[in-house]
Amino acid sequence: MKIAFIGGGVMGEAILSAVLSKGLSTAQTTFVSDVSEARRQYIEQKYCVGLTNDNWLAAERGDVVILAVKPQNLAQAMTDLNGRLKPGQLVLSIIAGARIETLCRGLNHNYVVRAMPNTPAQIGEGMTVWTATPAVTAEQKGWAAAILGALGNEIHVDDEKYIDMATAVSGSGPAYVFLFIESLVDAGVLIGLPRGMAQELALHTLLGSAHFLQKSGKTPAELRNMVTSPGGTTAEALFKFEKGGFTGLVIEAVLACYEKAKKLGG
Ligand SMILES: NC(=O)c1ccc[n+]([C@@H]2O[C@H](COP(=O)([O-])OP(=O)(O)OC[C@H]3O[C@@H](n4cnc5c(N)ncnc54)[C@H](OP(=O)(O)O)[C@@H]3O)[C@@H](O)[C@H]2O)c1
Repeated sequence: MKIAFIGGGVMGEAILSAVLSKGLSTAQTTFVSDVSEARRQYIEQKYCVGLTNDNWLAAERGDVVILAVKPQNLAQAMTDLNGRLKPGQLVLSIIAGARIETLCRGLNHNYVVRAMPNTPAQIGEGMTVWTATPAVTAEQKGWAAAILGALGNEIHVDDEKYIDMATAVSGSGPAYVFLFIESLVDAGVLIGLPRGMAQELALHTLLGSAHFLQKSGKTPAELRNMVTSPGGTTAEALFKFEKGGFTGLVIEAVLACYEKAKKLGG
């Protein structure tokens, strides 16, 4: 498949690296456009793909054109491509908050996929939720699923409303998880653990618990109850979490993120 990238920054590179390593495209069939000369040099040296600073020059060569610029640079990128894309070229946008309607209008093009990946995509452990316009063919949906699947897990949804919801759970989710790990490490240090050891304990507890949940077939509540002995140490800690409003706070935070995502898109 011929793939063009508009923006070769952090996320653009994550997708580029994944599609090349999975053999979905080759260095000869991959083109990256980026305004930053330093970035172009870096990408060229590392991946040997075609580089340009002309968005249209890259886009016209792609079966799939991946939009991976920051939201504030989207208008310029769309102007560069407006009305020039051929019917059948698939545009795949990962730009947070950019609605399908905005993309179709700004590009004057109907073959559009909107996706919300997250940062673990950089190591192939991402979670991406995506949707497509009605014009997108089954074959093109297959391309999108393959590209996004190369970043980790992918879920297709028919309704765009789920993209804002996914932003609040999986898109921003890694930041919540990192905050929890940080807090657990700080707590470990407070009670006397060396920082490095606290970090290792916290990280492997999180990884182990996530894999355990995934493989056990049980719900989080069932697994939590299994480690909560009557009158025991875990029950003491969980009581403090509940007293401090932990569950309510997580829900409020996710709700705030969701509202912000809807506002940015609107
Ligand atoms: N990071 C995440 O976790 C995440 C998750 C989901 C979605 N996203 C979305 O992914 C997109 C890219 O994020 P990122 O973190 O990869 O950003 P980034 O590292 O800043 O990459 C964007 C690249 O595009 C270049 N650029 C700017 N204007 C351009 C233009 N008009 N034409 C071509 N290239 C242009 C930038 O150059 P300069 O630096 O010189 O401006 C930069 O090299 C964002 O829209 C974001 O919402 C990110």
